[in-house]
Amino acid sequence: MARVLSGIKPTGKLTLGNYIGALRRFKDYQEANETFIFIADLHALTLPIDPKELRENSIDIASFYLASGLDPHKTTIFLQSAVSEHAELNAILQNYLYMGELRRMTQFKDKASKMKDEAIGLGLFAYPVLMSSDILLYDSDIVPVGVDQSQHVELTRDLVRRFNARYGEILKMPKAEVPTTGAKIMSLSDPTKKMSKSDPKGDIFLKDPMSVVKKKIMSAVTDCGSEVTYDPVEKPGISNLLTIYASLEDIDVKEAAKVFVGYRYGDFKKAVAEKVVSVLEPFQQSYQEIKDGRLYEEALKEGAEHAKKIARKTLTKVQKAVGLLVL
Ligand code: AMP
Ligand code: TRP
Repeated sequence: MARVLSGIKPTGKLTLGNYIGALRRFKDYQEANETFIFIADLHALTLPIDPKELRENSIDIASFYLASGLDPHKTTIFLQSAVSEHAELNAILQNYLYMGELRRMTQFKDKASKMKDEAIGLGLFAYPVLMSSDILLYDSDIVPVGVDQSQHVELTRDLVRRFNARYGEILKMPKAEVPTTGAKIMSLSDPTKKMSKSDPKGDIFLKDPMSVVKKKIMSAVTDCGSEVTYDPVEKPGISNLLTIYASLEDIDVKEAAKVFVGYRYGDFKKAVAEKVVSVLEPFQQSYQEIKDGRLYEEALKEGAEHAKKIARKTLTKVQKAVGLLVL
């Protein structure tokens, strides 16, 4: 059985991009694999965040995980911070990734370019080290992520090669799995930008009321012309809406474009809005019930216990390999 691992940072309100690129795919792995899905709460600290908000976001993600169909009897669901092995492996692995390569990471460059040097925390810079620790602790084979995270998984692969060349076959080589459709959902207000938890007009949040979801889609930026065709360069707005539709229908974008031949933009948007609402409405209800009933608590506690057992084994192997005295 292959090991599958992924996580989401509790940094803001989850978006439709998170849902399509990551969240909704997690449950597909749980039948045939050993699946670990966690809340990357330590990663959330890499940019300033209010403590209350962090706690609430963590509960939200746990509830959304369960609402998405993840079954705690099949998938290990846990908080990163509840398994201290993540931080312990991080302390070792930070010595095997280098300043030059960390500085070249797109996510770091994006975030750091908007900040003064004095405000950039070490954790933001070292973000990929902790992410590598998350992945490697569970001997993960497959890491399902959106396309923005694949560079971090590539760096993890470099780290495995480097570490194993020095110490022997200790770490397992992971592989990112990026969806063929929906790996990067764009903002509805600026379809050249990623939908990313920070733009209230262009992002659809999983907790938005359905009336707001409809309104956002109906006022999404579209392109010149009047035909609904898939062309991300000439028609980024329409192509993004087609991608959203196709992902939720589980069909190819080309097939989705065929559905809308002869549609005017307005009618096309209406159809996309209906599709999104039909998926989000029941999902939101289920999320609310899980959250109100605190059903996430037991899942997280049991998940952390199980995760810890597996993580400890890998950590011990790594500690011994590098020469730490394990008694
Ligand atoms: P984050 O919100 O950065 O913790 O991302 C959690 C997961 O959602 C990662 O696998 C990302 O690659 C994915 N993701 C985030 N934003 C998008 C987007 N706009 N389109 C597709 N996937 C996304
Ligand atoms: N960095 C990921 C993100 O922002 C979240 C994450 C942390 C993650 N550790 C991970 C994803 C390990 C996959 C595997 O989306």
